[in-house]
Amino acid sequence: MTKKEKIFVIYRQKTRGSKPKYERYKVPLTPGMTVLEALFFIQDHYDHSLAFRYTCRGAICGSCGMTINKFPQLACKTQVEPGEIKKHPRIQDLVFGDINNWDQENEILIEPLPNMAIIKDLVVDMEPFWEYYREVKPFFDREINDIAPESKQTPENAKRIEQLIYCILCGICWTCPVSGKRKDYLGPSALAKAFRFIDDTRVTEKQRNVIYKKAMQERGVPACEKIFACNAVCPKGVMPGTAIDKIRKLEKK
Ligand code: SF4
Ligand code: FES
Repeated sequence: MTKKEKIFVIYRQKTRGSKPKYERYKVPLTPGMTVLEALFFIQDHYDHSLAFRYTCRGAICGSCGMTINKFPQLACKTQVEPGEIKKHPRIQDLVFGDINNWDQENEILIEPLPNMAIIKDLVVDMEPFWEYYREVKPFFDREINDIAPESKQTPENAKRIEQLIYCILCGICWTCPVSGKRKDYLGPSALAKAFRFIDDTRVTEKQRNVIYKKAMQERGVPACEKIFACNAVCPKGVMPGTAIDKIRKLEKK
């Protein structure tokens, strides 16, 4: 194999619950090639049935989250070149199929996101993620119409929540070991989104209390074990674990 080629080892699973296997594909590399582009190559040249999600190809839609070399990340933001793929942060064992012959130095291992049911290959069922996101009611409750007054916010107050607004809802922070062992845990992203609205000066006190109570239920903030895996894996620097900690501190006021 020349230096311009790479072997991709890809988790394949035909349907929910069916027996998974790993398939190897040789991909010729081009300068700046992303993992997502390598998957397109495999789909085009080897197997049209390979399933994976993507939309924007620009690290903003949040669709292409997957586990690359045992580190959950965005395929469109991750270049194949050596050194570009992040290493496993040793947060937990991300166990998928039976892969005991992965050559870590020379092969790129692609698996689905952890802690979610697999629909097909690299496509996971994100419905629980969306369900818990909706559950914290992350929205404004003020009347929005042509005659309602404008919502104003100072630059300082906007800055307070700016980092949280960067969340692209990719689900990568469900790598959290608590999400792995508790299927009812609201999860880092929903709780970070809750804090994004709790801390927004334009939200009414009534709505703030509704969101706060949702976040503080037993399967929310109290279930967080302060592992901060979410902070380590988030591709947008949202720091959901830090936001969870801030909600926890509000309680003590
Ligand atoms: S907090 Fe980060 S990892 Fe979690 S959904 Fe948002 S962008 Fe993705
Ligand atoms: S394709 Fe949109 S974030 Fe990767």
